[in-house]
Amino acid sequence: MYDNNPTLEGIKTIDESKQGSVLFKEQWQDAHVPGGKKFYIESYGCQMNFSDSEIVASILHEVGYVPTRDVEESDLILINTCSIREKAEDTVRKRLRFFESIKQRRPGTVVGVLGCMAERLKKKFLEEEKLVDLVVGPDAYRDLPNLIGGAEDGRRMVNVLLSREETYADISPVRLESNGITAFISIMRGCDNMCSFCVVPFTRGRERSRDPFSIVAEATSLFENGFREVTLLGQNVDSYKWENPETGEQVNFAGLLEMTAQVHPDLRVRFSTSHPKDMTDDVLYTMARYDNICKYIHLPVQSGNSRILEMMNRTYDRPWYEQRIEAIRRILPDAAVSSDIITGFCSETEAEHQDTLSMVEWAGYSMSYMFYYSERPGTLAARKYADDIPEDVKKRRLNEVIRLQNAVSLRHNQADIGKTFRVLIEGDSRKSDKDFCGRTSQNKMTVFPKKESLKPGDYVMVRVKDATSATLLGDIV
Ligand code: 5AD
Ligand code: SF4
Repeated sequence: MYDNNPTLEGIKTIDESKQGSVLFKEQWQDAHVPGGKKFYIESYGCQMNFSDSEIVASILHEVGYVPTRDVEESDLILINTCSIREKAEDTVRKRLRFFESIKQRRPGTVVGVLGCMAERLKKKFLEEEKLVDLVVGPDAYRDLPNLIGGAEDGRRMVNVLLSREETYADISPVRLESNGITAFISIMRGCDNMCSFCVVPFTRGRERSRDPFSIVAEATSLFENGFREVTLLGQNVDSYKWENPETGEQVNFAGLLEMTAQVHPDLRVRFSTSHPKDMTDDVLYTMARYDNICKYIHLPVQSGNSRILEMMNRTYDRPWYEQRIEAIRRILPDAAVSSDIITGFCSETEAEHQDTLSMVEWAGYSMSYMFYYSERPGTLAARKYADDIPEDVKKRRLNEVIRLQNAVSLRHNQADIGKTFRVLIEGDSRKSDKDFCGRTSQNKMTVFPKKESLKPGDYVMVRVKDATSATLLGDIV
C-alpha cells in the first residue's frame, strides 16, 4: 500500500454536477473541446494520497482539463508526494528529474508538486527544485485553478496553508484507475496523534471529520453505479467524530459504519486505519451486526515492546494491545487482523526486537506492512532521540520480521483450506484471464477459474483448495 508505483489517469469518473451518475473516460473526453489542456498525475504513498488525486482530478475537470496517460503530451504534470520515509522522498525527486527533462524540451509545461512533500518543504522546494512551478499542500487543492493560472503567467506559485475545516466533502472524486467495483471514500483528514516517528501530523494538519451524510451519499452513488465495495479512509478512523452544527447531534465511527452498512446489503464496507488506543468494542459489535461490514481490521502495532511503544508515543502498551486483539477474537471470532511494524527504532535492543517477533506470532496477523525506521526531520523522535541503530541492523531485523510474517501468513491462509468463503469478484486474475480474482470478507485475495454468466461485481461462494502466503486458490461451489 505504501511507496507504491505511480498510477496514471482516470478510467471512470463520477460527475459532480449530477451526483449519482458515472461518467466514462470517453464521455469525459468528448465533453471537452478538442485541443483542451491535458493533465497528467502520478501518486505516491498511502491510499489517502491516491484518494486526494481523485479530488484533484475532479477540480481540474471542472475547469476543463482532460486527463492523459502520456506525460509527453501533457500541459500540466502533477506529482502527489509522500514524506513518510526518506525512500519515498528519494523516489519523488528522481521522478522530478525526469519531468524537468520534459520541461526543458517543452518550456510551456507546468510542473506541480502536491501532497506531503509539498507541505513539508514549502518554499524550500522551489529553491531546491529549480524547474518546479507549483507547490500545493493537501488542504489547498481548491486553489489549484488559480495557482495554475499564475504558473501559466510565468510565476512560481505556492499554497501550503493547512486548514481546520477542509474535508472536500462536496467534491465527488473522479475515480482514477478504478476497477468499477471497489472504491475508497475519504472520511476524515489530518491526524491529532503525535506518534514520535511520524511526519503526518506536520504534513496533513489537524484532524477533522467529514459530514457523514456526504459520505453516505457518495457510497450510495457508487453502489448505484455498480460499485460493490467501499473502504472508509482516515489516518485514525476510530476517532471519527462529527457534530451537526445546528442540532448538536453527534456521529462517531461506529455510527458512521452503521449508516454506511445500511446503504445496501450488497455493498461491502471496509475501513482503514484503526488505532489500538481508540478502537472500541462498540465498533466491533457494529461489525458483528452487519454481514456486509468486512471482518478485517488493520490495527498497526508498530512494536511489540512497551518501552519502545512509550518512546513512539503510541499511548498504549503491549498488554493494552493484546487486550484489543482479545476483544476482536471474542466479538468477531472469524476476523483477520493485519499490522504495520517498524524495526530498529531509536535505542531498540535485540531483546525488544524479539518482543516484536513474538507479537507477530502471538497476534497471528494475516499480513503486515513492515518498514525499518527512517528518521524524519522535525518529528518528536528526531528532536528527542538519537537514530542510533545502524542501518544494517535495522535491515536485518526487518528481514527477520518479514520472514516470520510470511510464515504466519502462510499458516493463516492454509487454515482456510477446505473452507468456503463469499467472494466479491473484482476482475481477471493478474496471471490468467481464465481466472477471476476477488477478496473474502477477511481481505484475502482469492483466485478461481471463471464460470460463464459471472462477472465482476457478482458475489460467489468459493471453496479454498490451496494457499500461498499471499493468495487463496479455490473453485466456485
Ligand atoms: N519510519 C518508518 N516507518 C514509518 N511509518 C511511519 N513513519 C515512519 C518512519 N519514520 C510507518 C508506520 C505507519 C505506516 C503508515 O508507515 O508503520 O503505520
Ligand atoms: Fe500518506 Fe503519510 Fe505518505 Fe502523507 S506521509 S502520503 S499521509 S503515508
